[in-house]
Amino acid sequence: MTTAAPSADAHERALRDESARAAAQEQHTIDSAAWNVFANHQPYYHVLSDPQMLNPGQSARDVFWATGTRDVKALMDFAELSPTGGTGVDFGCGLGRLTRGLIPFTECQVGLDISPVMIAKARELSSFPSMDFLPISPEGWPLDSASASLVISLLVFSHLSTVELMEQSLRELARVLRPGGFAVFGIQTMTSRGAIVTWFQQVARHGRTDRAPNAEQIRRKLVALHRGTTGVL
Ligand SMILES: C[S@@+](CC[C@H](N)C(=O)[O-])C[C@H]1O[C@@H](n2cnc3c(N)ncnc32)[C@H](O)[C@@H]1O
Repeated sequence: MTTAAPSADAHERALRDESARAAAQEQHTIDSAAWNVFANHQPYYHVLSDPQMLNPGQSARDVFWATGTRDVKALMDFAELSPTGGTGVDFGCGLGRLTRGLIPFTECQVGLDISPVMIAKARELSSFPSMDFLPISPEGWPLDSASASLVISLLVFSHLSTVELMEQSLRELARVLRPGGFAVFGIQTMTSRGAIVTWFQQVARHGRTDRAPNAEQIRRKLVALHRGTTGVL
């Protein structure tokens, strides 16, 4: 019996897939190495670019953690969400600033990050038994499908280095959300004057969602990826 040779099309597709996988792997290595450097050098400042986070003393570190509580509350208020219980995921958690802010809203909290050094530091800084920190791999997020009730993210999407990475992150976000779960995240964008602002802050300030370029496309993509999920952007 003879086996049919793969068609030229299938062969080309396999080559394309392989080269996309290799490119994603390489990008992951570069991004992870860059954020490891930031994690090893002034991590508080690279997470929250405020001069008082350079060599922060105890009082500046207290401010750092307080901003996490404040920002997650602002996200939840903006989305008009009450506590969801279950597992809350903080995508791009850095030192766990926002992961801590998830405590009042969820039973367990998981921080995910591309930088293993950030993850190690976040673990060192956390003494909360409900909290865990895990590194992201080039293949995706180390979480089961439909395992999270809430996913949040701030100051991360603007750092994703390729469109493919942004799409992969949205796909993973949708995969890990349980039906009826919520995703609330900030996307930084340019104002007409060229300033970079975080979209949800802009919306909160102006009360207008039409000021967010591309937000509707992203919302549609998310909902299409995860039917049954109420996505709040
Ligand atoms: C500016 S910090 C913000 C950290 C945290 N979200 C906060 O607000 O405190 C950006 C974080 O995103 C992480 N990051 C960058 N690219 C990532 C990716 N592709 N996947 C996951 N995390 C990423 C970095 O390692 C860094 O910890």
